[in-house]
Amino acid sequence: MRILSGIQPSGKLHVGNYLGAMKQHLDLQDKGEAFYFIADLHALTTVKEPQALRDHIRDVALDYLALGLDPQKCTFYRQSDIHQVPELAWILTTVTPMGLLERCHSYKDKVAKGIPADHGLFAYPVLMAADILIVDSNVVPVGKDQKQHVEVTRDIAGRFNNLYQSEVFVIPEDRILPEAGVVPGIDGQKMSKSYGNAIDIFLEGKALKERVFSVVTDSAPVDAPKDPDSNNVFNLLKLFVSAEEQAEWRDRFLAGGLKYSDAKKRLLQVLDETFGPARERRKELAKDKDYVEGVLRAGAARVEPIAATTLARARRACGID
Ligand code: ADP
Ligand code: TRP
Repeated sequence: MRILSGIQPSGKLHVGNYLGAMKQHLDLQDKGEAFYFIADLHALTTVKEPQALRDHIRDVALDYLALGLDPQKCTFYRQSDIHQVPELAWILTTVTPMGLLERCHSYKDKVAKGIPADHGLFAYPVLMAADILIVDSNVVPVGKDQKQHVEVTRDIAGRFNNLYQSEVFVIPEDRILPEAGVVPGIDGQKMSKSYGNAIDIFLEGKALKERVFSVVTDSAPVDAPKDPDSNNVFNLLKLFVSAEEQAEWRDRFLAGGLKYSDAKKRLLQVLDETFGPARERRKELAKDKDYVEGVLRAGAARVEPIAATTLARARRACGID
């Protein structure tokens, strides 16, 4: 089974990214032949500051490696190192109906948020299809918001195979963790880099404490019984503790007498327990200036021959050979 997923280097990674996407990427390293890449060509649609892009690429790579991505078990590379990807994307655009892209929620949401509607933003799903198809991926582990893009990929691959009466592309499937859902931010809305409500994975010490203590709660008196399900601290805490501990906190909320600061202290503690070792590892990895570059280049060297074979198949099928 070939597994593939991409991560945009568009800012600091947060707890929502971890639970919604990264966690399953890490778990799947042991379940098949995994390919993970940094989608820097995609990030160009929103990051227009060259030094910021360079920094984000290195940061995201270090974050993944520190959290346990193992370049011995999987292939970790940079999208822009595989020059066959944009060429395949062009071939795919010629079988992609406008209507298919016009229906994409992600494009509409980004434009609604004020991101300029350039061609790259519109054609984003076609480049993503090229990423997925170029390595013959079977499974694409993503967060819920990316499901439609995998469906677009299936549609494009099917159209190409059909038009050219060939089996050039493997039709991939998405894989979404049902239990991850949408992780709330400190204000209870979806946690997102762009909403200013995120808890970053590599935040620590005083800054992390301040962030956790700024999780929004109501002003119910200590004695009052409280509804756990509408409480942002409970909703974050439950993502990190065992089922038994979750039930204990639920009872404490309902019984009254609970101080929100006690639940926040526990949240801080579980964040430190979960991410503490990765924070230390990240500091170590960052000391070696060449490490990340070495890993990404070795990854690209492994992907290149696979990409070349797939592209050659596609070129031959459509008459460019
Ligand atoms: P952001 O909204 O912070 O910009 P991205 O769009 O870069 O995040 O998402 C990267 C990955 O993380 C995607 O697979 C997405 O589904 C997942 N993800 C992002 N935010 C959340 C969240 N709040 N809950 C669950 N998964 C999330
Ligand atoms: N669009 C994905 C995101 O924003 C990133 C991505 C680019 C990707 N190419 C991909 C994910 C291919 C899976 C497969 O999260």
